[in-house]
Amino acid sequence: MRFCVVFVSVISSCVCNEIGDFISPPTTVKATENNTVLLPCYLNTISNDEAYAVSIRWYKDDNLIADSSNETLTLPDRHFLWKNGSLEILSVQPEETGEYVCEIERSEPWGPVRQTHAIEVLHSPSVEPFPSNGFLQVKLGEEVRISCKAEGVPYPMITWTSKGEELKLIDHREILKFTASDRQMAGIYECTAANGVGEPAKASIELNVIYPPEMVTSRSWIHTAPGHRVQIDCRVSADPQATVTWLKGEIPVHLDSRVVTIVEGDKHALLIKNVQRSDFGIYTCRATNELGQGELAIQLSGVPNSGVFKHTEDKNQDAKNHYTLIWEVDSYTPIIEYSLWFRTYKGRLTHPPNWTKLTIPTEHSSGPVYSKSYTIKGLKERTVYEALLVSRNRYGWSKPSPILRFATAGAELNEDMISTVQVNVQENVFAYSSSSSSNYITIMYILIFLIKLFV
Ligand SMILES: *[C@@H]1O[C@H](CO)[C@@H](O)[C@H](O)[C@H]1NC(C)=O
Ligand SMILES: *[C@@H]1O[C@H](CO)[C@@H](O)[C@H](O)[C@H]1NC(C)=O
Ligand SMILES: *[C@@H]1O[C@H](CO)[C@@H](O)[C@H](O)[C@H]1NC(C)=O
Ligand SMILES: *[C@@H]1O[C@H](CO)[C@@H](O)[C@H](O)[C@H]1NC(C)=O
Repeated sequence: MRFCVVFVSVISSCVCNEIGDFISPPTTVKATENNTVLLPCYLNTISNDEAYAVSIRWYKDDNLIADSSNETLTLPDRHFLWKNGSLEILSVQPEETGEYVCEIERSEPWGPVRQTHAIEVLHSPSVEPFPSNGFLQVKLGEEVRISCKAEGVPYPMITWTSKGEELKLIDHREILKFTASDRQMAGIYECTAANGVGEPAKASIELNVIYPPEMVTSRSWIHTAPGHRVQIDCRVSADPQATVTWLKGEIPVHLDSRVVTIVEGDKHALLIKNVQRSDFGIYTCRATNELGQGELAIQLSGVPNSGVFKHTEDKNQDAKNHYTLIWEVDSYTPIIEYSLWFRTYKGRLTHPPNWTKLTIPTEHSSGPVYSKSYTIKGLKERTVYEALLVSRNRYGWSKPSPILRFATAGAELNEDMISTVQVNVQENVFAYSSSSSSNYITIMYILIFLIKLFV
């Protein structure tokens, strides 16, 4: 019983009850490759004098590998079964990692007893990427599935890095699965397997995300005039590379020495060296690759650019009944007249549109920047007004200017009123035409009205 007491103090009483007849406790032997391992299987004969071992058997992962009572059973290479029951393995190999059970058959009436040991042959990690060629191509929006199959004892921990940053995953998984929702997700994905034995192993997979053309332009509306030189820009990104064509209406643009295309990386441009009136119109930059097609419309027009109101620092602006507006309009062709629209500002919902229109003649000045000031008279005091401007040259009416809000003496413009002023009507008038914002709807009325009136 002496040994049993030792077990109780060292391990647990339950272990003692089960293997009370063994001298040494079950162990997991961690060995490096080529080490010699000795697994014990020593029966405590002192505690049980009458029970002596009849035969000893060893099982590896439930397969019988050694049996002292069967001489025809040959042990695996480098394995030795000693008289005292221990199993010795010389120059242990990674494949010898496993669970080893020693079984002692005892003299009657005692039954057999078993004890389980384990060997872990420590082995530096290795990784195999999937796809095995280290390259994966998906379409934008498709699922990405890449993995690193790791080996090593103990089993390695896997970490992933991409673009120099560790990917924060909840677990150290072998398989990485995500949707390529953004083409920025393309790049090199590297996995590292480390288990504390030898050097960590690395593998990498290059992810390529192919996508249909994406296009942007710096200007979707370009003012010009006959005799000028103009460049229409279109920036195209696509993978695989897109073929870009220029159309005017549905007809491909006729290229010659006067009208040429320029390509610089992803920048595509149509250069018209000596604009003629017949060049005015809507151009389409069309890009196509095997995944799809993109289009961008850019208008070339002779009508003036939309005007811009200038803020005045004039102290006399706090008059009760009048207000001076100053504006600037760019036009390569002389401005013929301005149309100034104004109304009292009553907050966001102003229905019906109750604009007053003033036709303002031009002065004799030369472009391309035309400036003008005009004093609106007969205004009410303590009132906030809003105004917008359209201007006309030989080719027609410009788009409306951004709205300006101003106040007569006694009224204050708050931040809210000013911030809305900065909304660029020219860019948004069509985009917002279906929204409930009454300002835009009002402007649409004006536009339709103007179109009917002057075109
Ligand atoms: C084990 O021995 C083999 C053969 O001599 C050798 O190739 C291998 O590198 C050794 N392994 C270690 C971990 O020393
Ligand atoms: C002894 O081992 C040999 C080889 O594995 C086997 O064929 C034979 O049946 C075994 N004999 C006994 C008595 O278990
Ligand atoms: C059992 O035998 C082996 C081989 O002779 C020896 O190395 C080992 O020390 C022995 N164990 C005991 C407890 O005597
Ligand atoms: C519209 O404008 C006229 C003249 O300025 C004014 O008399 C009338 O009250 C306005 N109507 C609304 C609904 O603001």
